[in-house]
Amino acid sequence: MKALVYEGPREVVVRDMPDARIERPTDVLVRITTTNICGSDLHMYEGRTDLESGRILGHENMGEVIEVGDGVDRVRVGDMVSLPFNISCGFCRNCEHGLTGFCLTTPDDPTMAGAAYGFAGMGPYSGGQAEFLRVPYGDHNCLVLPEDAAERQSDYTMLSDVFPTGWHATQLARVEPGDTVVIYGAGPVGLMAALSATLKSAAKVMVVDRHPDRLALAEQIGAISIDDSKGSPVDRVLEETKGLGADRGCECVGYQAHDTQGNEHPNLTLNRLVDSVKFTGTIGVVGVFVAQDPKSPDPLYKEGEVAFDYGRFWFKGQSIGNGQANVKDYNRQLCGLIEQGKANPSWIVSHELPLDRAPEGYRHFDARDDGWTKVILHPEGA
Ligand SMILES: NC(=O)c1ccc[n+]([C@@H]2O[C@H](COP(=O)([O-])OP(=O)(O)OC[C@H]3O[C@@H](n4cnc5c(N)ncnc54)[C@H](O)[C@@H]3O)[C@@H](O)[C@H]2O)c1
Ligand SMILES: [Zn+2]
Ligand SMILES: [Zn+2]
Repeated sequence: MKALVYEGPREVVVRDMPDARIERPTDVLVRITTTNICGSDLHMYEGRTDLESGRILGHENMGEVIEVGDGVDRVRVGDMVSLPFNISCGFCRNCEHGLTGFCLTTPDDPTMAGAAYGFAGMGPYSGGQAEFLRVPYGDHNCLVLPEDAAERQSDYTMLSDVFPTGWHATQLARVEPGDTVVIYGAGPVGLMAALSATLKSAAKVMVVDRHPDRLALAEQIGAISIDDSKGSPVDRVLEETKGLGADRGCECVGYQAHDTQGNEHPNLTLNRLVDSVKFTGTIGVVGVFVAQDPKSPDPLYKEGEVAFDYGRFWFKGQSIGNGQANVKDYNRQLCGLIEQGKANPSWIVSHELPLDRAPEGYRHFDARDDGWTKVILHPEGA
């Protein structure tokens, strides 16, 4: 099969790889119809992780079931399915509680929780930026999509990661109707957090970034855009909230947060959130932070440590929640919102490319080139 393979920092190629196949009776084999490039892929693409060369990338996958193992009862050949980026078992202690992002069965390291397709440090599983994908525990991991799935792929494809992840940010931040919400980052995840806060009837949603194309997408769904290259984003949030700070904050940038000159500061958005959010406010962090980042320009963060303003955070009585999104906890309900036309997450899609052109998609999305806001790939051609 054709697949997008990581070869080294900023080097990905599409080449022939052995076909994905059923390996266990509980597996499902999917012919991928749509697979997206994610900001999480970029940490690996830039060589900031220890991803081995030769691995197939891609954790935002949907497609058609073409074969099921003998132990699969529910999913059928011909079903259109969305696959949560987390690979989980459904029966471990964490999965039983809906914490499928922290599955204890699927990682290959017994000291770890959580696994994903085509991801550094999250198990041996191949990604779906390929013609075919093996889905472990298929009955549990496949979300069977409605009748209109094949025609509305650019909406439904957001169910594998960014829509549930944006929703998770607002869950961790405990967004409620009438709240004011500030979101740092207007990448796909930040934009989905803005959509989620809006769906939860937040009174005011503010999105901070410095890319005009991304900020324009935030405005399209009624959010207030804050360009941090034009002045302090904290001051702007305080102005918008009568000097009190926002009720809720979402971090949708992660450890490669940088200033507008491009210098990385892994504590930048976290500390700005402490300053932008009110006393007793709540903060959800879905931007990725890692335990070790030897290539970080920040000496502390090489060991995963962050100079967090804990004193100010404590004094303000704030709370924080963080981690990988438990996609399966939300994807069925969010699918319902798409089916009923109440959410159209495809508004962020800028490019639909055949898989062959994935390297070009990576290059532009990684450079955050103007107009490259979300790239979706079709293994059979666009
Ligand atoms: N927790 C999860 O389950 C989960 C799932 C998917 C993605 N993620 C993570 O979420 C983060 C965002 O993903 P994405 O696909 O939107 O990535 P992205 O890289 O496309 O977007 C990040 C955005 O943050 C902006 N940014 C950088 N520094 C900033 C700052 N100081 N202030 C405000 N904005 C700043 C960038 O300009 C960019 O637009 C990544 O770290 C990704 O790995 C987490
Ligand atoms: Zn993703
Ligand atoms: Zn599990």
